[in-house]
Amino acid sequence: MINVAILGATGYAALELIRILLRHPSVRLTALTTRQDDHPRIDSIHPVLQGRCSLTCQNLSATEVADLADVVFCALPHVASMEAVPDLLSGGCRVIDLSADYRLNDAAVYEKWYGHTHTDADRLADTVYGLPELFAEQIPRADLVANPGCYTSTSILGLAPLLCQGLIEPGDIVIDAKSGVSGAGRAAKLGTIFSECNESLSAYAVGTHRHTPEIAQVLSTASGQQVEVIFTPHLVPMTRGILCTMYTRLTEDLSEAEILDRMRTFYEGRPFVRIVDHLPATKDCVGTNYCDMTVRKSGNRLVVLSCTDNLIKGAAGVAVQNFNLMHGLAETTALIV
Ligand SMILES: NC(=O)c1ccc[n+]([C@@H]2O[C@H](COP(=O)([O-])OP(=O)(O)OC[C@H]3O[C@@H](n4cnc5c(N)ncnc54)[C@H](OP(=O)(O)O)[C@@H]3O)[C@@H](O)[C@H]2O)c1
Repeated sequence: MINVAILGATGYAALELIRILLRHPSVRLTALTTRQDDHPRIDSIHPVLQGRCSLTCQNLSATEVADLADVVFCALPHVASMEAVPDLLSGGCRVIDLSADYRLNDAAVYEKWYGHTHTDADRLADTVYGLPELFAEQIPRADLVANPGCYTSTSILGLAPLLCQGLIEPGDIVIDAKSGVSGAGRAAKLGTIFSECNESLSAYAVGTHRHTPEIAQVLSTASGQQVEVIFTPHLVPMTRGILCTMYTRLTEDLSEAEILDRMRTFYEGRPFVRIVDHLPATKDCVGTNYCDMTVRKSGNRLVVLSCTDNLIKGAAGVAVQNFNLMHGLAETTALIV
């Protein structure tokens, strides 16, 4: 069995991790952390776990966690993560970090978009980006995997097969993204309380959302060309799910059917991508680790639609996919229910 700890266990992403890992045949959960000092039981924090997990959450240092675990899922906010990761790695753990701290490979870009100095910048260039559909070969050997953002993986998965095969212009991409409110985490914030966001739809962080450089970086690396995107996220009054509607310009006059065939070939053997003929909907992805996608043509424009559950394929599910690859296990272990 592999001993596993989760940092930030009281949050939303951690809850999904716990639910998945409780049914994982190779995992023993050995530590859950919180900053609270009263050692709350995890099933009092997340009552859905009643009768399934009675571990207590503890306020442990990274060094103490390293003594209890082989692998650590960091489900902490950015900055808190980079404070823990160096001690976890030097304590001999392998780490899957769900935060943004290790996703960008340039500390200056991180500092520009996140407004913090990166205190572990030397590690950035070598950290593996944990999107198995694009980087499966690098993940098995990694000691530190940077799990992708939820908007980013949903956007990247839809665009990568087109960019990597030269089917769309790399400098003419508009991403219109919509997310449920759980994407903002569990902590109360004015913009995400019920009476502020219910019965309302609004854009936010236009031109400034931190997932913008991540999307451009990963698509540029994967396709070997400079990719630029305009990314506009919207908050939707639903709990979970992401839909990205992406406007691109075709480089070749292919039919929708031909483009879908090229996408299916690109993702052949990838268990969690579904190229569908219908228009994807969040209700078909929520609760699953699937990313559903399709395309529609409009003149020489191609509209790409891509959909995930932000907490599963966008966070905990892909983290377990990475865990499985890091341990030579079937990629789907514990992920298809
Ligand atoms: N929500 C999503 O859809 C999603 C998708 C992809 C990636 N992510 C990333 O995954 C991570 C967790 O997200 P989440 O949505 O689960 O957030 P969350 O619900 O806010 O949970 C984060 C947990 O971390 C702990 N925490 C908060 N601030 C901390 C600090 N300064 N130092 C140490 N611990 C702290 C808190 O636990 P205590 O208060 O008990 O200490 C909190 O419950 C974030 O980095 C997020 O960006 C989230």
